[in-house]
Amino acid sequence: MRFSDLTIDFPGSTNRLYQRLGELRQTGAAIVDLVSANVTEHGIAFPHDRLAAVLTESAVAGRVYAPDSLGQPAAREAIARYEGVPAGRILLTPGTSVSYWYVFKLLCEAGDEVLCPAPSYPLFDYIARLAGVRIRHYRLDGNRAWAIDMESVEAAITPRTRAVVVISPHNPTGMVLDPAAMAKLATVASRNDLALIVDEVFRELVYDGVEAPRPHGTEAPLVFALNGFSKMFALPGLKIGWMAVSGRSAEVDRAMRTLEMISDTFLPVNEPAQLAVPAILEAGADFLPAYRGELERRRNAALAALGALAPSPPSGGVHMVLPVGRDVDEDALALELLEDARVLVHPGYFYDVEGRHIVLAFVQEARVLGEALRRLAARL
Ligand SMILES: Cc1ncc(COP(=O)(O)O)c(C=O)c1O
Repeated sequence: MRFSDLTIDFPGSTNRLYQRLGELRQTGAAIVDLVSANVTEHGIAFPHDRLAAVLTESAVAGRVYAPDSLGQPAAREAIARYEGVPAGRILLTPGTSVSYWYVFKLLCEAGDEVLCPAPSYPLFDYIARLAGVRIRHYRLDGNRAWAIDMESVEAAITPRTRAVVVISPHNPTGMVLDPAAMAKLATVASRNDLALIVDEVFRELVYDGVEAPRPHGTEAPLVFALNGFSKMFALPGLKIGWMAVSGRSAEVDRAMRTLEMISDTFLPVNEPAQLAVPAILEAGADFLPAYRGELERRRNAALAALGALAPSPPSGGVHMVLPVGRDVDEDALALELLEDARVLVHPGYFYDVEGRHIVLAFVQEARVLGEALRRLAARL
């Protein structure tokens, strides 16, 4: 039997850390998972009664199948109000990961390049591989609270570069772009005729009164702002994502026509979920302050337990990156923390962090998180 090289690149094996985790769990050891960022496992939930009522209504409303290749108009109109772009420039998707794939296919021929930040969330490598796109990295500077190193963006551009990906708030550093950095990136994109792909999945999860700057209306010739309900409203299973497209009209129109075609090929977004979008946005606005406040409390509990071990507190998102000293073997440390402190964290190199670090999520309940991080701090 012949297979594609995907079977070599994606062998599906488990690394040493996860093998050991499995063994320890089999012995009944209680390990605190500081890797999963799934808040729904840790006592955070969109109000069940509102969700149940909205989904019942949308199931009834959707009993006659009448798909729209860009997504149901009522959903797009509600999202357009949230995004501040016209409804004709919104495309619904089953989530941001799929949105990335669509945009990569829209912009790139096989072997074309997209610039992504390092450190970065590992999913890009997989999506890029599936889309036949090459990833090149630009740097976030660990000595400047993970701000974008603009020189490294320009240095990474080649004749095959098609787009720059920006994640703000960023996973895993928690960095939130400042307005000047957004404007500079837009200028670089404009000067080099590149699209800007702005991942805003953590846009609503910001702390200390910080706000993430919006990419629409900047100098960038073509902008794809990606978001969805997965993180925004703690509804990852609903599978509602979108992209909001802005920029020069001719480019936006051309992009929308092809995106519509890609989406029409699959029609992958659940119809009742689409019909529920306007009501979920409305109910979500009531839920967000408490949700955001709870995550901010959990972040603060993590920072209190870690003290000086967390020199760059995250301003948004649900992850943080901790430096662990120059000579430390990250793999050995993660294994030791699992064995001795009973916490699961990731080595920094999983996320292409320069130097020696560990990466963790702060979504566990404050008491569990605080206790786990005090054990971790004692070990470090
Ligand atoms: C930065 C970032 N972008 C995108 C995603 C994927 O989001 P979705 O659930 O909408 O596919 C994640 C999920 O963890 C993420 O951390």
